[in-house]
Amino acid sequence: MMFFYKACLISALSLRIISSAAPAELSTKNMNKELDTGLTVCSGTLHPATGCVNFFFNGESCVNFTGGLAFLYKQVSSASVGPNIICTFYKSLGCNPSGSDSDMAVLSSGEYGFSSVPGLNGTIDFDNMASSYSCSAF
Ligand SMILES: *[C@@H]1O[C@H](CO)[C@@H](O)[C@H](O)[C@H]1NC(C)=O
Ligand SMILES: *[C@@H]1O[C@H](CO)[C@@H](O)[C@H](O)[C@H]1NC(C)=O
Repeated sequence: MMFFYKACLISALSLRIISSAAPAELSTKNMNKELDTGLTVCSGTLHPATGCVNFFFNGESCVNFTGGLAFLYKQVSSASVGPNIICTFYKSLGCNPSGSDSDMAVLSSGEYGFSSVPGLNGTIDFDNMASSYSCSAF
């Protein structure tokens, strides 16, 4: 009986140690929340962040890289896509798929250098090609 109690105490203790490791990891994650929750698009690199804009997913509408985002027009070199969304980048404005398989990059959650991204039919070089994007939740 005493042994059983001790074993329980030990396992409860090690459980605490394990769970106390989690908050530290969580707070690091919180610092990167902008990267984790939505979409980050950069004209340069993600690490270090160079010419990056954070977008927060708010529906499925098309975003053109014009106006205040003109610096990204055919300049996107990297992106980070948050969890539970998929973002499609288009060569043309208005999120128009213009026929060719290499006219769009379809990115699920993760970080990407645009010289090698998933297209409709295998990996494509999409560096400095994107003009617009749209994301959807799944
Ligand atoms: C994006 O640009 C295209 C082409 O100029 C235009 O038809 C479309 O309305 C624009 N979309 C938005 C959301 O501004
Ligand atoms: C997809 O890529 C493969 C290999 O490069 C090619 O043989 C095939 O024709 C392509 N399909 C389309 C629809 O372009």
